[in-house]
Amino acid sequence: MPETARRIVLASRPVGEPKPSDFRLEDFPVPQPGPGELLLRTKFLSLDPYMRGRMSDAPSYAKPVGVGETMEGGTVSEVAASNNDKFAKGDIVLSHTGWQTHALSNGAGLRKLDPSVAPISTALGVLGMPGMTAYSGLLEIGQPKAGETVVVSAASGAVGSVVGQIAKIKGARAVGIAGGPDKCKYVKDELGFDECVDHRAGDFPAQLKAACPKGADVYFENVGVPVFDAVLPLFSPFARIPVCGLIAQYNATEAPPGPNRLPVLMRNVLTKRLTIRGFIVTDFAAKFPDFIRDVPQWIKDGRIKYREDIAVGLENAPEAFMGLLKGKNFGKQLVRIAE
Ligand SMILES: NC(=O)c1ccc[n+]([C@@H]2O[C@H](COP(=O)([O-])OP(=O)(O)OC[C@H]3O[C@@H](n4cnc5c(N)ncnc54)[C@H](OP(=O)(O)O)[C@@H]3O)[C@@H](O)[C@H]2O)c1
Repeated sequence: MPETARRIVLASRPVGEPKPSDFRLEDFPVPQPGPGELLLRTKFLSLDPYMRGRMSDAPSYAKPVGVGETMEGGTVSEVAASNNDKFAKGDIVLSHTGWQTHALSNGAGLRKLDPSVAPISTALGVLGMPGMTAYSGLLEIGQPKAGETVVVSAASGAVGSVVGQIAKIKGARAVGIAGGPDKCKYVKDELGFDECVDHRAGDFPAQLKAACPKGADVYFENVGVPVFDAVLPLFSPFARIPVCGLIAQYNATEAPPGPNRLPVLMRNVLTKRLTIRGFIVTDFAAKFPDFIRDVPQWIKDGRIKYREDIAVGLENAPEAFMGLLKGKNFGKQLVRIAE
């Protein structure tokens, strides 16, 4: 029986929260590599919040996925067949082949992974794009100093967990914001943050204020409004705010309820001399050698811990992705596509 390949395509552009019918699972024949090409067999697929943006055709920094096209995504793959001198059958590579079991590549953009150095899944998480996002955004924009307070939202997740742990390594006080008591306990007890506050708690703003008695010198923004409303009054003079993500706003179809926040925000920017800077991880590509020098060493030294949340089977990717947008994941969300 010839092997059949499978892919998940964008069936329709979601309005608000994505729903199962926005995705479609399709079978297709396993492609045959031509001259210079490789056949890649996906082992892990990374699910990331940015994929919600790719499902939309609103103007953005990246091209959307077309309706009927394979969903985009980072992958770790095994070379199943090779007509390319640079790769041999059995090599494990970091790839960007999307939500599918098999793909062809000419080798461009692939990075070989050494499974003896780190579990291969980490190339999509703590040692990959999310880890690099945390490292570069915190150090280049946040610039935490010893004794300062660094607040980070989505603190148990792929990016936030690394932000708080690097803040600790730099001698700062780390305050996490996460959804629910289990995630908060993990952030404090396992990751070693000084405090973690549950953004779903009724008195969240008061709890956050109590957790930051000297204010916030850095706020690593991962979620947006309404969590940002609780952080804004806490900023110290000259606070730095790397704006990494706004996941709470990605499904929004209208402005959040409440008054227009812009006048208060601008008053704070002026009087507290805030630096608010958005970034995309690729802006800091030149920092990759530093990242790959520091973070593996910090993991080895036990100073950075990570957690993965692994769904099994391509067919379960849509549900895991929809869950990620609602905080159902606990750690870096991956899908195991093949053993
Ligand atoms: N700028 C860049 O280049 C770049 C690169 C990578 C990631 N990002 C951004 O970084 C952020 C974190 O990404 P990640 O990959 O590390 O994801 P993650 O934190 O592993 O997972 C997403 C988390 O977001 C939180 N969340 C979801 N909806 C929320 C809401 N309405 N209010 C508050 N929190 C909510 C949930 O955590 P709780 O259960 O704790 O609420 C959820 O577990 C995202 O905004 C993403 O877009 C940006």
